Amino acid sequence: MLQKLTRNTQEASVALADAKNNQTRVTAKVAILGAFGNILGQLSVTGLTGYLVFRSLVPIGAMMATSDLAAVIFNTVGNLSQQLAAMRAVEPIFEKFETLEISTEKSSEKIPTVLSGIELEQVGYAYGDKQVLEKVDASFELGKKYAIVGASGSGKTTLLNILNGKLTDYSGSVQFSGNELNQLSGRELREHILYMDQIPYLFHGTVRENITLGETYTDEELAKVLKASSLEEVVANLPLGLDTDIGEAGRLLSGGQRQRVALARGFLRGKKIILLDEGTSSLDEKSALEIEQQLLANEDLTVLMITHQLREAIRSKLDKVVVLGNV
Ligand SMILES: Nc1ncnc2c1ncn2[C@@H]1O[C@H](COP(=O)(O)OP(=O)(O)OP(=O)(O)O)[C@@H](O)[C@H]1O
Ligand SMILES: [Mg+2]
Repeated sequence: MLQKLTRNTQEASVALADAKNNQTRVTAKVAILGAFGNILGQLSVTGLTGYLVFRSLVPIGAMMATSDLAAVIFNTVGNLSQQLAAMRAVEPIFEKFETLEISTEKSSEKIPTVLSGIELEQVGYAYGDKQVLEKVDASFELGKKYAIVGASGSGKTTLLNILNGKLTDYSGSVQFSGNELNQLSGRELREHILYMDQIPYLFHGTVRENITLGETYTDEELAKVLKASSLEEVVANLPLGLDTDIGEAGRLLSGGQRQRVALARGFLRGKKIILLDEGTSSLDEKSALEIEQQLLANEDLTVLMITHQLREAIRSKLDKVVVLGNV
């Protein structure tokens, strides 16, 4: 693998060098062309004025005036061609900006203020030619608890990715509180929906920083979410409590504890719809069961969980089990 790494790096740097060479070549060509046009333009204006002076049609002073004017005009135009080339060169970079969500203006208008659940009608999804979901009908009501089950490859993760806004090119209709889901921005969805990865990302810092993510919250608010996400005891046992450094990528915490930190992040921001992908669980069964039971016990939450083993302790608390079949 080390060899592959070196080879890939070499290939990438050769490609970059080629691109740079190419860019320099084009820039030089544009500059030469501009300079050539510039000289030609100035010479012909001066030549024409000289001819007119020779024919005594204009005074000799006109030569000075026209060559000055020609110099200004052609120099400017010459420079302009380089600016145009530079503008063309950065176009691809700006195109990328359009796909980023950097505008904050539009978010206030579409956020559904009154949530009324999620309705799927004849939803389909294909990765290229590969049809993964077909004609899925389902309805997820607020405050209820659902499990999504199905064989490996039946599209469970795909379905959650549609619901969390990652995959927008589905067919059929997914209504989220009266809006077509793919018309809402990722930001709007994230206001309400918490997608819980099996291994949530924690960064090097304190527990507090990992939960607040740099925003300001009162100690009371924090205490409330610690309780709701069963982190109270965990935090109490840390040497510095909330201000304990949890090490690189949250090394000091177990998988289950990291998930609870992710939950706390979501609760702190008032998220009420939790999507949980048990995945091919890296989490030990006990922690997984604990988290799931905790989510199911919280009346405020709407929970959609992908689970591989529908344990009896879980099944009895579910409102519905959605089964995905192989297409
Ligand atoms: N990004 C992708 N590109 C192409 N095909 C994909 C992609 N992601 C998933 N698939 C395919 O779609 C099918 C469904 O995948 P998905 O991850 O939704 O299944 P799953 O039900 O979550 O499976 P598991 O229980 O193993 O997690 C699989 O056959 C997979 O190969
Ligand atoms: Mg999956």
